Amino acid sequence: MNKYEQFTILVKQISKIYNDEKFGTKIFELLKDVIDFKSGYIFFLNPERLEYSLNPEVNNIDDISESYLKENLIFKNSIFGQIIITGGQFTREDKEIFLSFASIISNSIKDIELTKVIKMQIDALQQGYFEADKKTKKIKKSDEIKTKFLSHITHELRTPLNSILGFSELLENEFAGKLNNKQKEYVNDIKISGINLLGMINEILDMSKIEAGAMNLNKTKFSVQAAIEEAVNIILPLLMKKNIKFEQTIDDIEIIADYQKFQQILLNLLGNAVKFTQPGGNIGIISVKEGKNLILKVKDNGSGIEKNLQKKIFRRFEQGNKPAANSTGLGLAITKEFVKMHKGKIKVNSEAGKGAEFIVTIPVE
Ligand SMILES: Nc1ncnc2c1ncn2[C@@H]1O[C@H](COP(=O)(O)OP(=O)(O)O)[C@@H](O)[C@H]1O
Ligand SMILES: [Mg+2]
Repeated sequence: MNKYEQFTILVKQISKIYNDEKFGTKIFELLKDVIDFKSGYIFFLNPERLEYSLNPEVNNIDDISESYLKENLIFKNSIFGQIIITGGQFTREDKEIFLSFASIISNSIKDIELTKVIKMQIDALQQGYFEADKKTKKIKKSDEIKTKFLSHITHELRTPLNSILGFSELLENEFAGKLNNKQKEYVNDIKISGINLLGMINEILDMSKIEAGAMNLNKTKFSVQAAIEEAVNIILPLLMKKNIKFEQTIDDIEIIADYQKFQQILLNLLGNAVKFTQPGGNIGIISVKEGKNLILKVKDNGSGIEKNLQKKIFRRFEQGNKPAANSTGLGLAITKEFVKMHKGKIKVNSEAGKGAEFIVTIPVE
């Protein structure tokens, strides 16, 4: 059997270890059957950390001095990590196989990371309910039902959604053969519905966790520019579908904040901007440092918000006068809560029919 045949077998095995707790080491063990190497590393880039490894000899990406092969891990057009193997005599064949390997596992890894975040949310949610449970038995009963329901729907909704998003990406990238224009358009529609659905599921989960008092800050240092790029990439298909022009002005600075929540703030504001802007409209994002604060502005020239609604929209389930599709009415309530957790502020400038500008101010550390 030659190396490429061995590699085909490896690819089939990847999907089997997907749910394995030791996924991180197992993928390297599988790769070892095809390529000979000593240590394997998967580093995440923003915030930088060593995430998975096999026989690690260093902890830092810059400390690798041996001969190595290195490839980027890419998800939705952004580089989120690097996979590196060291200590082998690598041939050209090895390099080619390693490149395909990196691109195949990128999706699985990002997906596992997302699933982990959701699992953490559920755990914290259950913990929050457990504490509330001590108070009254009646609350306990209804909370149990709610918690069970939430764990259930998350799992049940996320699993098919992962397939929908993953496979539409595979089709779109034409891994399974060329698509004609109509097919491309339909695949894109499937993907967009998937992204919208994912957004709503995340909003429901976040709100439940806030209500349970189980939302904590997990601060790390990261690049604002990279975080914004990642969020923009996620909503890019929505922007393209509505043919919306997008502009950005971003100071390249680092802040210490909760990366996941920072992303969610961006996704909620950008998601709203896209939702409430007409096809062909404009959206802009500005991110600058002013003294000890980061000022983040998301602006659109869409439908705008009447003065008398501008306070209300930050409340739960509040959807203004014209509830839109793909809406839970929770996005801004969650956004406000996340901003508050960072000791920041959020406000809106708008006039009906003249677009809206949301301004977030949070301390850089
Ligand atoms: N960029 C925007 N332009 C116009 N209206 C907006 C914008 N962002 C939010 N809104 C209004 O605020 C309401 C609440 O927003 P949100 O809490 O994100 O809920 P949802 O997006 O699920 O409706 C929206 O339903 C809409 O009426
Ligand atoms: Mg919203």
